[in-house]
Amino acid sequence: MRLLNIHITQFRRFADLTILDIPPTAKLVVLAGPNGSGKSSLFDALLLRYRLDTRYGWSGDTKYYNRPEDTIRNINDRISVTTDANKRFAPGNVYIRTAYRNDHEFTTHALTRQGAILERLSLSRLIEPDATVSTNYQRLASQAMEDVFVNESAKTTIGDFREKLIGEVRSPLKRLFPDLSFVGIGNPLDQGSFHFDKGASKGFDYKNLSSGEKASFDLILDLVVKKRSYPNAIYCIDEPEAHMNARLQGALLGEIVGLLPSESQLWIASHSIGMMRKAREMYDVDPASVSFINFSGHDFDQVVTLTPSKPTRAFWEGVMHVALDDLTALVAPK
Ligand SMILES: Nc1ncnc2c1ncn2[C@@H]1O[C@H](COP(=O)(O)OP(=O)(O)OP(=O)(O)O)[C@@H](O)[C@H]1O
Ligand SMILES: [Mg+2]
Repeated sequence: MRLLNIHITQFRRFADLTILDIPPTAKLVVLAGPNGSGKSSLFDALLLRYRLDTRYGWSGDTKYYNRPEDTIRNINDRISVTTDANKRFAPGNVYIRTAYRNDHEFTTHALTRQGAILERLSLSRLIEPDATVSTNYQRLASQAMEDVFVNESAKTTIGDFREKLIGEVRSPLKRLFPDLSFVGIGNPLDQGSFHFDKGASKGFDYKNLSSGEKASFDLILDLVVKKRSYPNAIYCIDEPEAHMNARLQGALLGEIVGLLPSESQLWIASHSIGMMRKAREMYDVDPASVSFINFSGHDFDQVVTLTPSKPTRAFWEGVMHVALDDLTALVAPK
């Protein structure tokens, strides 16, 4: 599924915002703009539209969404979207990953079936359906149990199966950190955790990973786990870049786009120079596949219409002026 247009009135920061003309070919949409310019609010609006369309619940948390006097009835008409498919969102059409996440360490001692991913959305706020690495551990391990007993061909060997289970996460991780290997998930019934090799250290626990390694692993794992339930979706990832240097940020964006199911679309809100540069490189190769939306320099108390910007030098100057001032040259050398 791809988003083409969005119209939002009287919601969070926006008095009347329209985003128009995102091409149906756009696989990646980059929201650029300084702190507080409304990028995360756009994701809030999409999640709320999704919840209302799919009846996955309304939080009642009007303080968060807008003004105290608002009710579900009057908010319902304020967010509308056009997609390349159905008029309304269906279950599995929108996945939001917020900027707040991360378990620094975890172990499991029991395997609890997590329920269908899509059932868990009826929680109260944007940050709650978020994917923690421990939940994804449970999902990966319990899904593996089900696969072994129900779905897997009798001819599959244990070795094949283990490879299938972790290979999809291991390969992208290996490209980002060539000396780090994801080797297994331990025993989910006794101190279960993710295990890694690096150099002479063998089988060490997830909690030993560096912050950047953890952040990358969490994100890749989350996409691999979620892809099953969101094969045709708008994926929104708010600030995927935490804890990473610019080179890694760019490489990670490439891996995320590579993992995306083919009919899906990725929206990112980012301040990352590495991700911006990577997105610009992708645009250079195939301009129809990447759209940039510039949130900077608008008064959202007024009626505002945004369309995809060409990533010219003037665009980068506009985007980076407030947040980064004179670093434009790093992204768009003259
Ligand atoms: N009714 C409202 N509800 C929520 N936010 C509001 C409301 N009215 C105004 N705001 C402001 O709207 C802005 C929207 O912030 P938002 O989180 O969308 O920004 P952002 O672009 O994601 O910034 P950052 O890059 O810091 O994450 C904030 O400055 C917030 O204070
Ligand atoms: Mg934000």
